[in-house]
Formats: sequence, structure tokens, C-alpha cells
Amino acid sequence: MLAETKFAAEPLAKPALGEPYLLTPGPLTTAYSVKQAMLRDWGSWDGDFRAMTADMRRRLLALTGDAKGEFDCVPMQGSGSFCVEAMLGSFVPGDGKVLVLANGAYGLRAAQTMQYLGRAYTLIDKGDYLPPRGDEVAAALDADPAITHVIAIHCETSSGILNPVAEIAEAVHAKGRKLLVDSMSAFGAIALDVNEIRYEAMVSSANKCIEGVPGFGFIIARKTELEAAKGRSHSLSLDVHAQWAHMNKSGQWRYTPPTHVVAAFLEALRQHEAEGGVAGRGARYTRNRDVMVAGMRELGFETLLKDRWLSPIIVTFFNPAHPNFTFDRFYELMKDKGFIIYPGKLTVVDSFRVGCIGQMDEHVMRRVVEAAALSLHEMGVDTAAPPAAAIAERAKLAA
Ligand SMILES: Cc1ncc(COP(=O)(O)O)c(C=O)c1O
Repeated sequence: MLAETKFAAEPLAKPALGEPYLLTPGPLTTAYSVKQAMLRDWGSWDGDFRAMTADMRRRLLALTGDAKGEFDCVPMQGSGSFCVEAMLGSFVPGDGKVLVLANGAYGLRAAQTMQYLGRAYTLIDKGDYLPPRGDEVAAALDADPAITHVIAIHCETSSGILNPVAEIAEAVHAKGRKLLVDSMSAFGAIALDVNEIRYEAMVSSANKCIEGVPGFGFIIARKTELEAAKGRSHSLSLDVHAQWAHMNKSGQWRYTPPTHVVAAFLEALRQHEAEGGVAGRGARYTRNRDVMVAGMRELGFETLLKDRWLSPIIVTFFNPAHPNFTFDRFYELMKDKGFIIYPGKLTVVDSFRVGCIGQMDEHVMRRVVEAAALSLHEMGVDTAAPPAAAIAERAKLAA
């Protein structure tokens, strides 16, 4: 039973600016100073904006620990999926073959991208509950010598699973193949240090863990790979080599840059640094997750994943079995209280997600739990326990 009086007694404080908090995988809640940085117009050709682009590229590269200058950073207009497509189209040669490691929607999207590109690929699909492991990657590479590249999803945002990229990287390197990483929802909060993890290229975007607003992504790649990418891209606008070469020569983006988004992102990068970089950001998100998951479990909610694979980015919960529960009503009640949650993206069971990233801390996460308790109370749901069938399925598939 929920402690109704405890939660019903006190109205929740309103979020800053009267906006709801976005408990989503991005776009997410940004700092006021990040929004404020967009209140000025910049000439895309002007030296000031070129300096901003150069500063941003330098700051992003610094997050990878690339002390030897072996990597470079190439910003690219568009959302994250544009950058994944740009990476695959530019680094995988026409006669290459990609092993796609999937355990959710974004791995499957990478496979779909390969299909659109018309380039060869093969898939390991682990379903929603489990990560691809180093030994199975090694076995797949042994079994198919035609594979030249592997793409791994760092945090599979559809379930929130944190994939073991280090052991995958080791297996890929040991077999003499090249690793591409979709670190969209992890980069900036979970280390992807080039001195620890061997990869050729990675992508992320402005509106994830650096806490900027949407409008572009970026590819960080070995310079040797960038050079080899010349003339390979299937697409004029998504050609990573062409964007890189143009930017290095002129300091400018090839086509209209999202000027305001870049200005906001630079402010977000300054804040990221002030928070203690990747470690500081990751620590806050981890506290957010721990406080929120503990509180939700007290209400009877259960996580899709075992603790071992829970990322500090986003957490999937099973929908409660109670007949009065519907996600749509729960969503509206949470929104009324200032919190926007996210629907689930699983193939089999009904679920919803709560993001831990963005401008919020553990105090906000406590209020999220209070809002969830109050919303259940308003729906007449006295326990958030999931259906027995969902638990049975988890036991079967996550074994
Ligand atoms: C791991 C991952 N890859 C790719 C994407 C696609 O990015 P976008 O929705 O910005 O195109 C996302 C979005 O959340 C993601 O989390």
C-alpha cells in the first residue's frame, strides 16, 4: 500500500521558469545560462564564430583524453541519427562489412542505416535485456573474415542498458577489426577515453550529456580514418571527410551552421568542465539514478534490467499490473506536477522510462518519486508491482 497521506499532504514546488523537467533522453532540461547564450545572432562566416567552432572542437577532443593528437572532432549539422549515418557512410568502405551489435532500437537503427547505405552487414541481436559480450563478438569475427568493422551502442537508450564497450573494444582490436561507437547518450557522462578503449570513431550529439540544445552532432575519429574516408561517402551533406577538410582549411562549417546551438553548446561545455568534466557529470547522474530507482522500488515499481546493467542515463520500469493504471493518464498526472516522463521502447512488455540526465539533481529526483506516488494515488493504484508475466519473461530472457 502507498502512504497516501504522506504524499497527498504537501503540494510539490514548481520547477524553475515554470517549465516541466524533461526526464527524457534528450532534448533535456538545460541550464538557464545555456538558453541565455542563444540570445545573440552570429555571422557564420565571421571570425568570432569560427573561433567558437574551433574552441568547441578542442574542448570536445579534450574529453577523449587524446594527448597525442591522433584524433580530430568533426561537428555535423542534424540530429544524432544523421551523425551515425555520416559515420557509417564515411568510415566503412563500399566493399567493407559491418557487424552491428544490437540490443534495442538504436542498434537496430544502425542496421537499418546499413540497409539504406546498401553496404554489407551482419547482426547480433540480443533483445532488450542483455548486452553483447566480448567473447561472442570475438566468435562472430572468427566466423566471418569479411567483417571489417563493428558498431557498438555505448548506452542503448531504448532500455537504458550500459553496454560493456571496453570488453567489446578489446575483442575487436584483438581480431584486427575496427570499432565504431554510437555514444550518443553516454558521451560526456561515461568515459570513452582513447587511452583505455580502442576505437576508430565515435558519435554523440549536442542535446545529451553535455546538456546543450538540439541541432548538431559530432564525430570524433582517428585522423588516419578521416583521411581514408575521402571520397567514400554516399551523401554530399553527410560526408565527414569533406566537412573535416573544409573546417580545417577555412574554420567554417560547409553549409549553414546552427549558430545559436553552437553558442549554447559552448556554454554547456563550460558548465560541464566546472562540474568536474566526465567524472563529475557522471557522478551527479549516478546519484540521480540511485535516488530515483530506490524511491520507485519502494513504491513497488520494478526495473527492466538487473542493477549490473543499469546506466546512469535512463531507466526503464515495467508498467504496473493494477487495472487502474494506464501510461497516458500517468504521463498527464506527472506532467501536471512538472515532470515529463518518456514512453517505453521495448518490443514485448509495456514499460515507461525515466531519464536521469539534464539539469537536475537528487533533490529533484526525490520530488519525481513523490510525484509518482501522488499520481498513483490519484489513479487509485495502490501498488506499482508489474504483471507476473513481465517478471517471468524477464527471468527467462535475462538469465
Ligand atoms: C544511442 C542513440 N543512438 C542514436 C540516437 C538517435 O539520435 P537522434 O534521435 O538525435 O537522431 C539516439 C537518440 O536518443 C540514441 O540514444
